[in-house]
Amino acid sequence: MEAANNAPLWPPASQGDEERDDGVPEQTPRTKRVNREIPFFLTKPQYLTIKDELDAAVQRVLDTSFFVLGTELTAFEAAWADYLGVARAVGVGSGTEAIHLALRALDIGPGDEVLTVSHTAVATTVAISSTGATPVFVDIDPHTYTMDCTELERRITPRSKAIVPVHLYGHPADMDPILSLAERHGLVVVEDAAQAHGAEYRGRRCGTLGAAGAFSFYPTKNLGAYGDGGAVVTNDTALAERLVLLRNYGWSERYYSAIKGYNSRLDELQAAILGAKLPHLDSWNARRRRLAALYTAALADDAGASAIQVPTEAAWAAEASACTTNDFTESCKPVPAPHTYHLYVVRVPERDRVQARLRERGIATQVHYPVPVHLQEAYQDLGYTPGSLPHTEQAAAEILSLPLYPELTDDDVQYVAAALRETVAGL
Ligand SMILES: Cc1ncc(COP(=O)(O)O)c(C=O)c1O
Repeated sequence: MEAANNAPLWPPASQGDEERDDGVPEQTPRTKRVNREIPFFLTKPQYLTIKDELDAAVQRVLDTSFFVLGTELTAFEAAWADYLGVARAVGVGSGTEAIHLALRALDIGPGDEVLTVSHTAVATTVAISSTGATPVFVDIDPHTYTMDCTELERRITPRSKAIVPVHLYGHPADMDPILSLAERHGLVVVEDAAQAHGAEYRGRRCGTLGAAGAFSFYPTKNLGAYGDGGAVVTNDTALAERLVLLRNYGWSERYYSAIKGYNSRLDELQAAILGAKLPHLDSWNARRRRLAALYTAALADDAGASAIQVPTEAAWAAEASACTTNDFTESCKPVPAPHTYHLYVVRVPERDRVQARLRERGIATQVHYPVPVHLQEAYQDLGYTPGSLPHTEQAAAEILSLPLYPELTDDDVQYVAAALRETVAGL
């Protein structure tokens, strides 16, 4: 993994080769190179900034040549639990599997209803459906894009067994009312924290507030592996032990199945990579917050930008970052990160036109997510129709995710913000 020549590690000679959607690999369309190219996301710059640490971690696994359920996983699980301030972390195969196995470990299955949001990665619903339970969609609060707690109460029925709130884009869902409703109605809460590594709700890490929290380590995530990966975290050690069985065929010991299980394990290479990256997570999140603040300042500063709605941080997630420097590797001290800006999402009029114009200028954007789950073909059997979840549907028509990752420069952000302002003003 040596650098091929003496070329500088960053910026790389070519860009755009590793862009990813948030869950679905996707190529950013290439246009004429008349403008500066701002890719939506790149994994390579981050690798290059901590190349030695990552190379050493991978080499360590290759040297031991032990690849599944070994010491790297144990060490990462302990470090991740420690970082979050939770009793246990159990590494699994993906974020989808983390939600699925957490629900299975809590005995959710056929006949049960699980309340969640439709404005999320479809993976949230895939995980619920995989248990045999029925997803029940709750509309979102249009400002935070997270579960609307008033609507949640209305959707609870005698068959409701669990709630899966999603800390979407890195913004925490409003957990206090969710937890108190859950307690009043005897429901379990599994947090989908796939986009919320290090985010906090009233001073506590997302993922640690419910019965269990599910994380994805998909490569684009704030803490991303170099393949698929996930983890369930919990303060319930009995639940953690059940997850340890479930992820490994239900084996209590080799070849002895105590329960019916699955094969869903976080492998040693991924665990070693995640363990090497974890000490950097807080400074990466601080850098994301700084870039988000730059976007917000640039987009909200004049009349031309008034049609652009920038993200808000709710009162339970409004603590500002102390990071004011541009040097995210050295000078950004770990700071509280209520909203960790996995994605920076604005609302604009004529979204598709705006997206196309930005693409012509070399700026790649994405939409998370263009079709809400309740309107997806695969979920028509659930009986929702257009109009069922108005805030969700309106958001899907207007949202646009701008490029945001720690290695983006301040100048890149100013360039994108200026282009967006001009585009919207010229509609
Ligand atoms: C909100 C949310 N939930 C669940 C998942 C599923 O994670 P994974 O892709 O690791 O299965 C993702 C990832 O795309 C996500 O963004």
